[in-house]
Amino acid sequence: MRKTTEGLGRTTTRGRGPLLAVGAVCVVVLVVAAVAVLVLPGPAEEPGSDLPGLAESHGIKLGVAVAVDPLRDDSDYQDVVTDHYTAVTAENTMKWVHVQPERHEFDWSGPDTVVDFAEKHGLDIRGHTLLWHNQQPEWLAQGFYDADELREVMREHMEALLGRYQGRVDSWDVINEPFEDGGPELRENLWYQTLGEDYIAEALRMAHEVDPQARLYINEFGIEGGGDKADALYELASGLLEQGVPLHGIGFQGHFVHGDVPEDLAENMRRFTDLGLDVEISELDVRIAEPVTDDAVSDQAEEYRRAVEACLEVSRCVGVSVWGVTDAHSWIPEWFPGYDSALPFDEDYRSKPALGGMVDALSRGRRARGRPVRRRVRNR
Ligand code: XIL
Repeated sequence: MRKTTEGLGRTTTRGRGPLLAVGAVCVVVLVVAAVAVLVLPGPAEEPGSDLPGLAESHGIKLGVAVAVDPLRDDSDYQDVVTDHYTAVTAENTMKWVHVQPERHEFDWSGPDTVVDFAEKHGLDIRGHTLLWHNQQPEWLAQGFYDADELREVMREHMEALLGRYQGRVDSWDVINEPFEDGGPELRENLWYQTLGEDYIAEALRMAHEVDPQARLYINEFGIEGGGDKADALYELASGLLEQGVPLHGIGFQGHFVHGDVPEDLAENMRRFTDLGLDVEISELDVRIAEPVTDDAVSDQAEEYRRAVEACLEVSRCVGVSVWGVTDAHSWIPEWFPGYDSALPFDEDYRSKPALGGMVDALSRGRRARGRPVRRRVRNR
């Protein structure tokens, strides 16, 4: 939260000459200091609460998507992560195009940076992602594999990636965005075209064989407030569970637009947990249409509060992750021109009211949870 000059007005000028002079000097010093705090960029300011401790007291993760370069060389960025969050997701570096840019050639430099950082700081890790229609390397997207070859490609990739981090990555988004953007049809991605609808069950079974401990997720957007797409995902998930497919959770991405965050988030998540699944809000951001006003930024706090509260209301909601560390690292300006300011920290790494919204939600008493989330010992 921004520091304010509140209280300065109470500096007294009662008394005589020398006292008055000292008082005046103090006022000037304080005003200069306050102005510096307000105007100059600097590291994130604390909202006055231990956010990781609060999240842990509720048994939920509070996560953030991280990029590799600042995780290596930007200590302010690292501090924002370790001071405020209990989990990380690799925003890009575990995606297929980065992990296996050429067939049989793997690049572990980025994923290792994220995993090592997380372990050093006692943070949980969400693995993101295995099968997705975006960010696939050309050899995969354009290779004309028959069904058996594609299964082999899938197995090789999973054994390499899940195998490497077995026991270190807690959960994996095995299937990402399986439905068409507007839903409710399944997306005709490479996997669907070659293996049919069953590719989802096959991939989940294969991932489970490779890492039997990992919690396996379908991660999707545009389902947070119910509707046809959410219903279709619900049918898919029910069917998979009936067949005994190892599906453990649903990620509700939560890429919201300011002013349009659904009211019934908890209700919609709860019907999935009633199936015996975990849920999480996996990629939360709330983008604001430009020009971004102070009012919009402060109203956004309420939307972040609502998202975290929704998770707290659902006993098997295991956490909330925001999609990026600061507005300087957010994917929003590039992917949604005309929108900005989607995250709880601004471009100068200062906390925004949105962070206070999350603190607020987490400060309102403990909830009774059905099942504790597996926690690591924090080492911060
Ligand atoms: C986005 C990243 O944030 C961008 O940096 C990248 O250019 C494209 O992908 N749903 C997902 C994420 O599951 O992987 C996407 O991340 C955002 C939408």
